[in-house]
Amino acid sequence: MGVLALLSPLPVAPYADALRRAAPGLDVWTREDDAPPDRVEAILAWRLQPGQLARYPNLRLVCSIGAGVDKLMPADLPASVLLTRVVDPNQGCEIAQYVLACTLGFTRELGRYAQQQAAAQWLRHPVRAAAQCRVGILGLGAVGQAVARAFMPLGYPVAGWSRRGEPVPGVEVFSGEGGLAALLARSDLLVCTLPLTPATRGLLNRRTLSQLPRGAFVVSVGRGEHLVEADLRALLDEGHLAGAALDVFEREPPDASNWVWHHPKVVATPHIAAQASFDTVAAQCLDALRRARDGLPLPHAVDRAAGY
Ligand code: GLV
Repeated sequence: MGVLALLSPLPVAPYADALRRAAPGLDVWTREDDAPPDRVEAILAWRLQPGQLARYPNLRLVCSIGAGVDKLMPADLPASVLLTRVVDPNQGCEIAQYVLACTLGFTRELGRYAQQQAAAQWLRHPVRAAAQCRVGILGLGAVGQAVARAFMPLGYPVAGWSRRGEPVPGVEVFSGEGGLAALLARSDLLVCTLPLTPATRGLLNRRTLSQLPRGAFVVSVGRGEHLVEADLRALLDEGHLAGAALDVFEREPPDASNWVWHHPKVVATPHIAAQASFDTVAAQCLDALRRARDGLPLPHAVDRAAGY
């Protein structure tokens, strides 16, 4: 019995190597054609197509290589197959670094000073007060909380919005439809770390983004499908929003002609904010497989009804 790593078009070798290092002797296949279907006990994947699992009669577990599992839930994923995701504390830390880099570049006006430098211009502007940089985080899971913890020591007021509204130390927590409107109305810096589910798809659209204060800055590090890109563009062009940092897109990669690459108010990066480490992915996949065999609960099991 063994693990099939199905990661195309991502490079599969680092994941397969990490699995082999962590469990010498375990069968690890990297191509569907090489794996005897009845010996596949777990599949490590990033996305699955409908029907792709039908040929594996002894499959017990699907492991995501990432925190998000939105591409791993084809409607025909059998109920008997467990689904788990990776929770890598370092990934939360890296996303927090990315968010800080983008938002502080904005609040400390590094773009403006770069222009002044190009013109050898010594012009000092007042620093924007921390109270005017109210942070709003959509999603208060492991990643959202890491982002919150990174902002707090800088003195920026931090609030967040989550489905369950559970308390998070130091964070003003909102939930529900009314809570979303309240969070948006007080967020000068909006950071989206939500999982992608039917309830969050398209959540950032003209109606919701218009509820942000004029001059707000948006950071999108969850999934591209949270954001209606055309609505963002309209609000940037109209001057309601001052800027955006996008690490995820409706379509990845965006075409070379896509406005997101070229808009002066947009920082666009190729889904690099963070990646779970190969060794953590392998260790958590193998731990989940052992637990699945023993009928034990999985620490990072996905709640299929919730979608994350
Ligand atoms: C990255 O996008 C992840 O889901 O881990």
